[in-house]
Amino acid sequence: MDKIVSLCKRRGFVYQTSSIYGGLANAYDYGPLGVELLNNIKSLWWKRFVHEREDIVGIDSQIIYHPRVWEASGHTKEFFDPLVEDKKTHKRYRADHLVEAWLKEKGWEDKYKVEDMTFEELKEFIKKHNIKSPEGNEITEPMKFNLLFETYLGSVEGKKRKVYLRGETAQGIFINFKNVLETTRIKLPFGIAQIGKAFRNEITTGQFIFRTFEFEQAEIEYFFDPKKQDWEKLFKGWQEEIWRFVVEDLGINEKKLRWRRHSDAERSHYSKETYDLDFEFPFGFKELWGLAYRTDYDLTQHNKYSGQDLTYWDEETGRRFIPHVIEPSVGPNRIFLMVLINAYREEKERVCLSLKPYLAPYKAAIFPLLANKKELVEKARKIYEQLKRKFHTYWDARGNIGKRYRYQDEIGTPYCITIDFETLEDDTVTVRDRDTMKQERVKVEKLESYLQERLEV
Ligand code: GAP
Repeated sequence: MDKIVSLCKRRGFVYQTSSIYGGLANAYDYGPLGVELLNNIKSLWWKRFVHEREDIVGIDSQIIYHPRVWEASGHTKEFFDPLVEDKKTHKRYRADHLVEAWLKEKGWEDKYKVEDMTFEELKEFIKKHNIKSPEGNEITEPMKFNLLFETYLGSVEGKKRKVYLRGETAQGIFINFKNVLETTRIKLPFGIAQIGKAFRNEITTGQFIFRTFEFEQAEIEYFFDPKKQDWEKLFKGWQEEIWRFVVEDLGINEKKLRWRRHSDAERSHYSKETYDLDFEFPFGFKELWGLAYRTDYDLTQHNKYSGQDLTYWDEETGRRFIPHVIEPSVGPNRIFLMVLINAYREEKERVCLSLKPYLAPYKAAIFPLLANKKELVEKARKIYEQLKRKFHTYWDARGNIGKRYRYQDEIGTPYCITIDFETLEDDTVTVRDRDTMKQERVKVEKLESYLQERLEV
């Protein structure tokens, strides 16, 4: 993990936010390479789950909604984590995380499962075993700590209105269900997708970008008629889709993945069934992607709280009903971390990021062999100008060629193209493959199609 963090900092993938002011805990900015990788991940998700599917459309909703949204959804009451405080240091911890660490220390992970404990059981467990803080001090009883970020709208003191930064992008989809239904020709079963920021006042953060206060979510609400479609079959289908995306599109090693079913105690208030796709991060198997069967819970709640009719009219059967929903939900920032961990290789003489070519921040790098040879630089510049219109391309004419290769390997550029004296004679260039380090001569006129083929998603 330290190596990934260090690479991110050294090469400009991720910076600690506000670092010139000493930083802000658990908040990060994405640098020149990071923003490219993150955008590539989001674009690939959007391509696969929106553009390539005739049954899914996208939206982009606000971050701040009408505050009643969160009352209707149950988040103002149910969206909490169990919080304890060290009585001496006043540091705050998530009670379930303390119990988890305590069980691990005792070697009792198979005897008790913290995910199976209700809030009350957790409270009892801490009391019974006199669990202490990591500093060894007494802790308070667990309290329910709401994760929604509060803020205020309005400029007149005393008349400001309390609102929330969204705790999940999903609610933006539910409150637009009627709009989408009325303005498109879409019919059940169909999905609405959204990528955007979400905010949670997390108690335990740390572990770099894995859990932050501000993060992105890529969510789909997939609406269907439970009388026509078996939810368990649909759920299985979504599990397969997600697995395929992670293994084939993102190139993640299958051995590092597992599905984990939520216990009754762990499941969110809105869900009838939840599975997490966990990835083995350096700090253990942790949730990457959640899949939940939210039934008709959210639309029913919004129907009730807004007084608006959120039912669906089925022309075929003449039935009017509230659709049910299956929700795949993932954090692009977590995908980003997983992809970096999965791609990182340390070899004898180099560090190499073996990213899938279409995810790489730069697709190709152009090097004139010698920076002081005008003919080489001119020719290389011409090729660069041509390629950069098609692919994100890096120009580098500094230092020896070995160093230039090392730098590109470290930032994951799949192809390095060198313009040398032979180029001036026969119009061919050397293309070096990042992973195999093999080189081949390619005609300049074929370069674009050569890369296109290899960068295909
Ligand atoms: N709408 C359902 C929902 O929000 P969730 O399991 O709480 O479910 C979905 O979150 C996904 O969002 C997670 O699987 C994770 O990838 C990402 N996520 C959640 N909290 C996060 C945080 N604090 N930092 C980064 N990503 C987070």
